[in-house]
Amino acid sequence: MDRGIRHNKVGRSLTAFHVRVGPGRSSYTLRMDLAALRKSYERDALDEQASQADPLRQFEHWMKQALAAQLPEPTAMTVATVGSNGRPSTRVVLVKAVDARGLVWYTNYESRKGRELAHCPYAALQFHWVELERVVRIEGRVEKTSEAESDAYFASRPLDSRIGAWASPQSQVIESRTVLVANAAKYGAQYLLSPPRPPHWGGYRLVPDCWEFWQGRKSRLHDRLRYRLRDDGGWTRERLAP
Ligand SMILES: Cc1cc2nc3c(=O)[nH]c(=O)nc-3n(C[C@H](O)[C@H](O)[C@H](O)COP(=O)(O)O)c2cc1C
Repeated sequence: MDRGIRHNKVGRSLTAFHVRVGPGRSSYTLRMDLAALRKSYERDALDEQASQADPLRQFEHWMKQALAAQLPEPTAMTVATVGSNGRPSTRVVLVKAVDARGLVWYTNYESRKGRELAHCPYAALQFHWVELERVVRIEGRVEKTSEAESDAYFASRPLDSRIGAWASPQSQVIESRTVLVANAAKYGAQYLLSPPRPPHWGGYRLVPDCWEFWQGRKSRLHDRLRYRLRDDGGWTRERLAP
């Protein structure tokens, strides 16, 4: 049994944790004292007066602030989809366009998310801007972007990313990394400097019918404003309890 505070190579103590090595060398439990980690959110507030009546305007305002703050990955969002067995799954993608039509990201249509969206064309998105103590959640129906839109974005990507779209059978089991490297060499030689967009690769656009803006506040009394799309095309804004 091994108990105590561990130190990393630069001598800083990691969070207190206890390690218990079981009877067999292969079995052990690692218990970190995560419950003791606490943070008070006090950076900002979000209220009905200061927020925009249109959620897209509110999103643009927060995205501009996330960009200005030079966060590490301001455009990274989690995408949740649901499989045919009813099980949800999530992954991170990069949002590439946001306008009145919705939010766009690009991927492999034959990936797990692609297969799940073909079965159930609804998704939930989440941005977590940790440093700003903000979260945006967005839900809606998902459609493929037009061929022209996908072509235009594909053409704007660096060459290795364009070859990568051919080389990676995203979400499939592969024998080893060598498969990817060999595929990249093969398609690189085949298409040279101008690979076309693979037919299995393109964009998805989520058309929002619900947005939520979350701002962390002191004492866990966070601000949450939800916008629901009405039949007349307007948005109903309401405050949710944190
Ligand atoms: C910061 C970040 C950005 C990513 N951006 C994308 C992206 O734009 N498109 C994409 O297909 N995968 C992206 N990925 C990889 C996905 O998270 C995921 O591994 C991949 O899409 C396969 O997911 P799936 O098997 O659920 O379909 C990104 C990963 C990270 C960490």
